[in-house]
Formats: sequence, structure tokens, C-alpha cells
Amino acid sequence: MSTHKAILLHSREEPHKLETVPRPVAQTGEAVVRILAADIVPYMSQVLDGTRPYPLSLPMAPSNTAIGRIHEVGPDAVELTPGQLVYCDITIRARDNPSNLFPLNEQLLVSEMEYPLSDLCLMPVCLVPFGGLSEVDVKLGETVIVASATGRYGGAAVAVVLAMGATVVAAGRNQHALDSLAAMYASTRPLRTIRLTEDVSQNTANFKKAVRNPQGADVYIDFSPPEAANGLLLTSAIVALRPFGRCVIMGGSLGNIDVPYLEVMFKSLRLQGRFMYDRQHTLRLISMVESGLLRLGAAIGINQVEEFGLESIDEALQAAGRLTGWGSHVVLKP
Ligand SMILES: NC(=O)c1ccc[n+]([C@@H]2O[C@H](COP(=O)([O-])OP(=O)(O)OC[C@H]3O[C@@H](n4cnc5c(N)ncnc54)[C@H](OP(=O)(O)O)[C@@H]3O)[C@@H](O)[C@H]2O)c1
Repeated sequence: MSTHKAILLHSREEPHKLETVPRPVAQTGEAVVRILAADIVPYMSQVLDGTRPYPLSLPMAPSNTAIGRIHEVGPDAVELTPGQLVYCDITIRARDNPSNLFPLNEQLLVSEMEYPLSDLCLMPVCLVPFGGLSEVDVKLGETVIVASATGRYGGAAVAVVLAMGATVVAAGRNQHALDSLAAMYASTRPLRTIRLTEDVSQNTANFKKAVRNPQGADVYIDFSPPEAANGLLLTSAIVALRPFGRCVIMGGSLGNIDVPYLEVMFKSLRLQGRFMYDRQHTLRLISMVESGLLRLGAAIGINQVEEFGLESIDEALQAAGRLTGWGSHVVLKP
């Protein structure tokens, strides 16, 4: 019987363990993928120890979206072949279409564009905001407020909005991080930055000024972290939206949503929540990367990459927890 190594979580009371387990055999409608590299979200250790009470069905091999190579396909495979480089998506929903594997053009991405696997592991990070931005149908030439733009998903949202041909108003509290964003895109893409304050009216005034359209911004995408539970950011940005503007809520704030009621009603605003993305978003994002419209790695501000093997999972989790925000990236390479 062939085997493989996996990190297994049996219960939240015991630490995860690196174990040797039987290798699955691909049945009809399935493929076995050898994982080459996967990015680690900064709060993964909190998911494992239960600090973030995500529903898990145990025992499980915790994982994330990965870049892999097809090892074996089931007898009915028509598109996937062993040896093929694939993007292996972690999002599983009840569905009828059988596959969450997406072929990648290795010649283009690896040989011509020279992306290392760690850069390809940025695709899932970019895909999260792309799901929300697509949901509210961001169009060429529109203006999108992104906050917090200095975080991991906010930083990815900035790169994706620009790749979609829209202007970014990037908001955050950290002036140094905002300056880095502004410097990176200074001569190439339309981006303006706003330093957030605790004053809602001041933030709104700053947004309106930066949007440069007296009607307001077209879209606001919110990536408030759990610490930003007071809803001030959401209110500041909603007031800066134009009539029929759209707001997509994607963060992890633990508070309630409290927005100015009449502002939403009179301006006919659309408030939309969005968890992750759908299959068609993944296909579109891969096309954006393969066409060069959306760049990965240093071109979008990722300057620090730390890579770990499976046997160093604890160091990897610690590094992921330490290297939050935009600019760094932790990758697990089994
Ligand atoms: N919708 C989805 O499918 C989906 C998927 C993945 C993640 N998420 C959620 O997205 C959220 C953001 O994740 P992330 O990885 O981007 O977080 P992150 O890298 O930690 O960034 C969060 C940013 O928020 C800012 N911030 C921190 N405390 C704040 C406060 N008290 N008030 C206002 N701003 C504050 C910080 O920027 P400054 O210090 O510069 O202001 C920080 O860079 C998480 O809560 C996560 O659960 C949602």
C-alpha cells in the first residue's frame, strides 16, 4: 500500500501531528494531487486551536488552496492528466460540477513569466477580493475605495482592482504602509491613499476628496479585521458612495453592521456580503494572471517570502501569524 505524509488534527485539545497515512486512490470523478506548495493564512494556528471557532469536521488534514501536480486521475477523466500543474481550490460547496481543479499553463506561468510556485500561491489571496469585486460588478474606469488596504486581503484587493481597470482609493491607518503602496504604483496605475482616523466625518471628507467625483465613489470593498468591531469604517465609506453605489462586505469584524439608514435608502445603495468566490471567478482570475493583466509577487508588493517543509509546520504557523498584512507571504512546500 502506498502512503504519503500529512499533518492531521484529531481534536482541538491535542496538537496536530505529522503522520504517514495511506495514499488515496482516484475513483470516478476524482484526482489525486501531489501538493507542491500552499500558502498559510496568518490566523491558521487560531483555527487549529479553536480560538477562531470555525466549524471543522475532525479528524482532518488542515490545508489551504495549493499549487500541485496531478498524480493520478479517476477512470472517467477527460481533461486532467497525470503530471499536469494545477491550482487546487480549497473552497468546497454543495454542487453538481465535479471538479475543483483548474489546469495552469505551466509553459506560460513558470517558463515564460518565471513565477516561482510561491508567487502562484498568491492567486488564492487575490481570488478572495476578486470574488467580491466581481459580485458587485466593478467596471473599467470606476473608482473603488479599499479598506483596510494595508492588510493581506486589502492589499490583494488593491492589485485586483487595478488589474480590472478601475481606480483605487486605498485606506488604512499605517502611513508608512500606505506610502509604500503609493510609491509602488506611482507611475503605472491610478491609486490614491487615505490615512484613516477615528473621526467618521473626517474619513468621509477625505474619501470624497480622493475620489475626485462630486457624486462619490462607485464601490467600497470592506476587509475590516476582527479588531475593527465598531463599524466606523463602514459608515465613513458608505457616506462617500455615489447614488446607486455598491458596498461589498468581506472582512471578519465581530461587531454588528450599523449603517446610516437614510443614506442607504435615499442613495439606493447596494450592500452585499461575500464569502470567498465561485468557480467562474477562479477561471477568470487564472486568465487574468496568464494574460499578464494581474501580476504576482514583487510586482504587486510581495517582498518577503518564507518557505517551510511539512516537518516545520509549527515554525510555519508562527511565521504566518507574525507576517500579517500586505508585503509578506508564508508558503508550505511538502
Ligand atoms: N470574505 C471572505 O471570504 C474572507 C476570506 C478571507 C479572509 N476574510 C477576512 O478578512 C479579514 C482581513 O484579513 P487580513 O488577512 O487581510 O487581515 P490583516 O492582514 O491582519 O489586515 C487587517 C488590517 O486591518 C487594519 N486594522 C487592524 N486593526 C484595526 C482596527 N482596530 N481598526 C481598523 N483597522 C484595523 C490593519 O491595517 P492598518 O494598521 O494599516 O490600519 C491591518 O493591516 C479577516 O478578518 C478575515 O477573516 C474574509
